[in-house]
Amino acid sequence: MKILRKVSEVADYVAEQRGRGASVGLVPTMGALHEGHLSLVERAVAENGVAIVSVFVNPTQFNNSEDLASYPRKEEEDFKMLAEAGTAAVFAPSVEEIYPDGTEGPSHKFELGKAAEVMEGLYRPGHFQGVAQIVSLLFRIVTPDRAYFGEKDFQQIAVIRNMIKSEGIDVEIVACPIKRASDGLALSSRNALLSKEQRAIAPEIHAALKDSVAYSLDHSVRATHDTVVERIDAIPGMKVEYFEIVDARTLESIEEWEESPWVVGCITVYCGKVRLIDNIAYRVPKE
Ligand code: PAJ
Repeated sequence: MKILRKVSEVADYVAEQRGRGASVGLVPTMGALHEGHLSLVERAVAENGVAIVSVFVNPTQFNNSEDLASYPRKEEEDFKMLAEAGTAAVFAPSVEEIYPDGTEGPSHKFELGKAAEVMEGLYRPGHFQGVAQIVSLLFRIVTPDRAYFGEKDFQQIAVIRNMIKSEGIDVEIVACPIKRASDGLALSSRNALLSKEQRAIAPEIHAALKDSVAYSLDHSVRATHDTVVERIDAIPGMKVEYFEIVDARTLESIEEWEESPWVVGCITVYCGKVRLIDNIAYRVPKE
């Protein structure tokens, strides 16, 4: 596995691979890798001539400096896992390499549509501008044929789809299912920040969502929403920041199940100081 630190090294590597006819798959990550990330990597390895994984904790998408400072960093372990998964090259640049002019955020405002204005967009101002900034940069540096993203960050995928449209970037976005621990907790780099006690209650997020799918079959959207929030908020140490039941294509809230054939519930919960996100499908379109 090649370890690339410089933008120019990536350009040379990609040119070389394209020269021998290889397609390029990109998996953007912020490191502290787990099986969720690896599921994306494995798919990128299987579907492309070469899989490139970026590992970069992007400062411009953190709206909270404490969150950025505490974000786990484990480069050596990450590289070992990536090599074992068949990654051809990892791009792990410094902050200065990516942002030579500083980390103030994008100099132009990305057009990200309404999907960026709700949920994470409301609670993490500037977050999606920062995500659009780094992902568009990575797409321009790596020029991938395909890029792989996890449905754990459901809204992020919708926002990135809008970004490539407005920026005119030609890349296929591949959405991959959520990987969970055996007790149901969605795998996340932030899980490493949970205490033993917090880790023990965190699976309640998925349990509440899962149970609410059966509940939703004979209850209103509002009642389904409330049953999830009440159950999680009743657990000491846990607090729902938002829970929105939305049309999966637009991310706009719905009031009646009939409003959309594809309905997803997106949740963010504070488990102590650790911010955990998850989602679940209530209605899925028939093929
Ligand atoms: P990060 O949180 O490291 O996630 C990298 C990718 O892994 C994202 O597409 C995310 O959705 C996916 N992922 C994380 N946990 C997952 C799980 N349990 N199952 C499946 N996929 C999972 O998302 C980011 O980084 C950043 O915003 C990034 C896109 C890299 C831009 O900086």
